[in-house]
Amino acid sequence: MATLPVDELFELEASALEATDAAGELESLAEVEREYLGKKGSIRRQMRRLGQLDQSDRPAFGKAVNDVATRVEARLTERRASLKAAEREAALEAPNFDPTLPGITVGQGALHPLTLIDWRLDEIFRSMGFYVLDYPEVDSEYFNFEGLNIPADHPARDMQDTFWLTNGQLLRTHTSAGQVRTMREFAPPFKAIFPGRVFRYESTDASHDHTFHQVEGIYIDREVSVAHLISSMKTLLSEVFGREVKVRLRPGYFPFVEPGFELDISCLVCGGDGCSVCKQSGWVELLPCGLIHPNVLRAGGLDPDEWQGWAFGLGMSRLVMMRYQIEDIRHLLGGDVRFWSQFTGTGLE
Ligand code: DAH
Repeated sequence: MATLPVDELFELEASALEATDAAGELESLAEVEREYLGKKGSIRRQMRRLGQLDQSDRPAFGKAVNDVATRVEARLTERRASLKAAEREAALEAPNFDPTLPGITVGQGALHPLTLIDWRLDEIFRSMGFYVLDYPEVDSEYFNFEGLNIPADHPARDMQDTFWLTNGQLLRTHTSAGQVRTMREFAPPFKAIFPGRVFRYESTDASHDHTFHQVEGIYIDREVSVAHLISSMKTLLSEVFGREVKVRLRPGYFPFVEPGFELDISCLVCGGDGCSVCKQSGWVELLPCGLIHPNVLRAGGLDPDEWQGWAFGLGMSRLVMMRYQIEDIRHLLGGDVRFWSQFTGTGLE
């Protein structure tokens, strides 16, 4: 048997093993693998020499090539594992983050001041036995005007410039639009408030916006009194502000009440000295109210000889402004996060 031409093969093995050990990264290791064991790699190429050998030497030489390939393969696998482990180790040790840096703060949401006050009012009125109701913002001319004793040609319609819809409906100009609905819905005696958004087609300034919030209140019983109305309003205000606030009562005209009143509070933004919110008067119109007009009771299906009622229309946006000393009503719905982020309440504290 002729000597097998294995010198070159073993040299290849030695250099393949050396190159494997020398590969410092997975990438160069892959390169080594390609170079020696790839389809056109130098070890595989040794197989081509089979044809030049004696028939009898072929199996032994073929086996020798395969054995070399297996050993190189094994060494490559070993090396790959240790390079991977080293890579992981390095990744863990690398100073790729600084544990002394402050963490990312997760911002906590807060409630809008209008929501805070709305919830507080709900609570106060519920404790006094009022229902808390919700009525549509798009309403009919009847509930917003007609049923409230404001017929089509009545000058009071001009007091509240209206957004009319093309279908003849309107965006309610006041929460009073719910009054007649309530009377038709509940059997007297009852007490209810209905907070919500209202809309006016008018230009805006520090104390006027086209969209704002009111809370309507209504109390129907066989006998009601102005004294009870006023004392309820004072209780409400002292509950909201957590202290006595200075108020004044003036006669006020609204077609749906008789007599009607304006309950003003001393401006809490300027402390009564005069500012843009109180139009330099030191007083803010906050709580118009009165005894419900017989025509309105009738529209609600109630006999005015049998039932009486009082009602109020609290300017919730103004109340919020007073409570938090906000000098411009347009901040409330302006959508500026810098404004909102000053309020941290969640209503749960
Ligand atoms: N709805 C009236 C307005 O927005 C306010 C008002 C006045 C409501 C007197 C009432 C009331 O319930 O009795 O101007």
